[in-house]
Amino acid sequence: MATPTKSRRKKQGRRRGPRATAKNSDKYDLYQKSVNSPDNDVEFLIETYTTMRGRAPRHLREDFCGTAALAAEWIRQGDDKTVEGFDIDPEPVEWGKKHNFASLGDAADRMTWQLKDVRDPSAKAPDVRTAPNFSYWIFKTRKEMLEYFTSCREDLAEGGLYVVDLYGGPEALCEMQEERDIGGGITYVWDQKSWWPGSGEYESAIHFHFHDGSKMRNAFEYSWRMWGLTELKDIMLDAGFAKVDSYFEGTDEDDESGDGNFEIDPRGENCEAWIAYLVAAK
Ligand SMILES: C[S@@+](CC[C@H](N)C(=O)[O-])C[C@H]1O[C@@H](n2cnc3c(N)ncnc32)[C@H](O)[C@@H]1O
Repeated sequence: MATPTKSRRKKQGRRRGPRATAKNSDKYDLYQKSVNSPDNDVEFLIETYTTMRGRAPRHLREDFCGTAALAAEWIRQGDDKTVEGFDIDPEPVEWGKKHNFASLGDAADRMTWQLKDVRDPSAKAPDVRTAPNFSYWIFKTRKEMLEYFTSCREDLAEGGLYVVDLYGGPEALCEMQEERDIGGGITYVWDQKSWWPGSGEYESAIHFHFHDGSKMRNAFEYSWRMWGLTELKDIMLDAGFAKVDSYFEGTDEDDESGDGNFEIDPRGENCEAWIAYLVAAK
């Protein structure tokens, strides 16, 4: 759900009340505070679609939605916005209903929760479909990825876009941990545990460390294949997409971290760690 690069976009927040410890903290709340940037993601999706198609998108599908922070932000963009969120695990879905959607009132009815596999079809063909935070890397073979991408293309509305994010660079392949202070005496730790070059298998986890010395280890664990951008682009084209564009994140001048702004760029820049979107057009 996170990489060091993308998560740098999150600014440290101020908190009030008793300081958090591993015992009194909620892992989904910490995850959203340290990893999700739904406002940036939704802005990118709407701007990209509007620029390419000359009209604003209406119906979104979020694959691997979990707590669906992105879907909730989509709904906030206007009364014409509807969304479907797909996830097979009821636990984050129930958390998301309570914490991300209850406050939306009647607008929450514009979200359709689908406790289903991402390869299942939508109730309504989406203008934009996205699989954020690299979750589609659970597909570890080319055959599985091709089948998934093909089902995404077939399911899109006319003129629809399918958008994924990805990261890379030499740092992404190192077995290392990156720590970031997320405020309130809490440290977010992104742990790149293992990468096997022969198979591409990639294991990582998120831990949280607290001011009192307590730790929430392996709050989230991931078993992925590390995919390359060009490899994914080729699979998307094999899946029948008409065009695939890469958008790379710019660099913050002050601290060399990602600045949250993505520009279309067919080549990218060879740096230690980069993050990008692939936008596949039907
Ligand atoms: C890494 S979380 C992503 C959550 C969300 N995208 C975010 O960034 O907040 C991955 C989610 O994918 C779900 N998942 C894994 N395999 C799936 C599948 N085949 N179909 C639907 N959901 C799946 C898991 O239940 C989990 O909630």
